[in-house]
Amino acid sequence: MTRDEHREFASHWGSFEEHPFFQIVQGRQTAPDVVTLAKDATLGGTENAWHADLSWHKHPSYGAILRAIELPEVGGDTLWADTSAAHDLLPQEIQERIAELTAVHDWVSTFGQAMGEEKSQALRPRFPQVEHPVVCVHPETGRRSLFVNPAFTQHIVGMEAAESAELLAVLYATISLPECQVRFRWSEGAVAFWDNRSTQHYASSDYYPARRVMDRISIIGSAPCGPA
Ligand SMILES: [Fe+2]
Repeated sequence: MTRDEHREFASHWGSFEEHPFFQIVQGRQTAPDVVTLAKDATLGGTENAWHADLSWHKHPSYGAILRAIELPEVGGDTLWADTSAAHDLLPQEIQERIAELTAVHDWVSTFGQAMGEEKSQALRPRFPQVEHPVVCVHPETGRRSLFVNPAFTQHIVGMEAAESAELLAVLYATISLPECQVRFRWSEGAVAFWDNRSTQHYASSDYYPARRVMDRISIIGSAPCGPA
């Protein structure tokens, strides 16, 4: 797939997202609608935390299509977790406890750290903290999924900090179970397409200082809805 074919393919699913931070934190971007994730000896991989793309946004990504441009000899796999499967693996008592909860998501502790305090503060008014349901219902399948992640979720609303941290740790541990994951070993030119509404992903950062370059096109999503 060329970059134009990548765009053509992605255009079947909606409008493209222009990520507001990548140009600032990684000034190697060559187009507004394609995020190039280029890692090498000067910039190691930082996507090695479970996350759903843009969960810190009012409208998290619908999905994304990632294309391998240049790969290390070994390593650089991407893992995905099925967050509906993770939800269904939870004991019923926890499923009931979390069904109506919401959580706060933020980008400051990740992208904000990378860009520095001054730029982060300047962007804050455009991208405030957002609140999303902890359990989201997939708009097409109706399945419930966990919509909290260790990269962007800050705390559960209306809970003491310790109780929130304890509950989130249980949810993150479930998402981390191999039983609800796949691991993709990239080959040159390989393409992966994921539904960001019911999955999380993790880029294994095990190839430094080798080079790994990927192109990503994201599709604009909508506000996640809880069971209520
Ligand atoms: Fe991501």
